[in-house]
Amino acid sequence: MTREEIAALKAKLRIPVMAGPMFIASTADLVIAQCKAGIIGSMPALNPRTTAALDADIARIKAEVGDMPYAINLVAHASNSRLEADLEVVLRHKVPIVVLALAANGDLVRQLQDNGALVFQDVIRNRHARKAAQMGVDGIIAVGAGAGGHTGNISPFALVQEIREWWDGLLLLSGCIANGKAVLASEALGADLAYIGSAFLASDEANTQPGFKQMVVDHGAEDILVSDSFTGVKATFLRPSIVENGLDPDNLVRAAGKSINIDGGGDNAKAWKEIWSAGQGIGAIKASGPAAAWIDWLAEDYGVARKALCGA
Ligand SMILES: Cc1cc2nc3c(=O)[nH]c(=O)nc-3n(C[C@H](O)[C@H](O)[C@H](O)COP(=O)(O)O)c2cc1C
Repeated sequence: MTREEIAALKAKLRIPVMAGPMFIASTADLVIAQCKAGIIGSMPALNPRTTAALDADIARIKAEVGDMPYAINLVAHASNSRLEADLEVVLRHKVPIVVLALAANGDLVRQLQDNGALVFQDVIRNRHARKAAQMGVDGIIAVGAGAGGHTGNISPFALVQEIREWWDGLLLLSGCIANGKAVLASEALGADLAYIGSAFLASDEANTQPGFKQMVVDHGAEDILVSDSFTGVKATFLRPSIVENGLDPDNLVRAAGKSINIDGGGDNAKAWKEIWSAGQGIGAIKASGPAAAWIDWLAEDYGVARKALCGA
């Protein structure tokens, strides 16, 4: 995307923020609330139980959000048996933004772009960002240390600095962003948009159990543990939810010979559903409530931060 196209995208938003898609947690209602409140909403294609349900959800989102951009996340991995059918739905509805996760390839990127979509890819290191750029993606999502879900482990200071040395296109930054000052800080680092996931786990519209919402409200960065023992890929989990499931967070081991399996939440079915993932930024979340109310607060906090730092 050119700088003009990026400016045009940002002009549609109330604040420079996109919501990150979250397995199980993101719903069509959450996407609609996010878009109506002025940010880019998103959800994984796999959250609706079937491809037909995805079709119905996207139709509802389109009808509700008007011109606001929204995104659907496709897992482009051999283990995702729904990829072909879900892709057909995404193409038919002309979904404006597609976030690709895992094993994306240039053909898929081109197919989506030829159909009018912007394609974003998330990466946790500069090397992956270069690969994504070679595939021709429109936006790179830099996932920094402390992010919820399949987290990164590189400081956002280093990650954005390295990517911005050679990438002038749309750059999003994620990892622990949960207040207006952090959104402004993302821009100061060189990102175009902040990408926020965990903060929405406590939203009314999120498909998260009441106990999960409360755990997000009650806990902070030191209660987050990074482990690859559930899916084979490093991800962040709330320590108390591991304890509640009878496991010792300090002695988690992945059985020898188990390969990566992230489809459906991993080979330990409890991961994501009962052992809850959240990033280190949850300390900023003080209450659960409608997503729109939290975005209103975020916009206000962003305005205050801008005024304090930039005078406008
Ligand atoms: C519970 C949970 C589930 C997630 N599931 C997905 C997913 O299915 N696909 C994806 O691309 N990212 C997923 N993510 C990552 C988010 O989209 C986003 O990158 C991340 O939450 C940003 O960091 P933050 O949580 O610190 O705001 C998930 C994150 C969480 C917390």
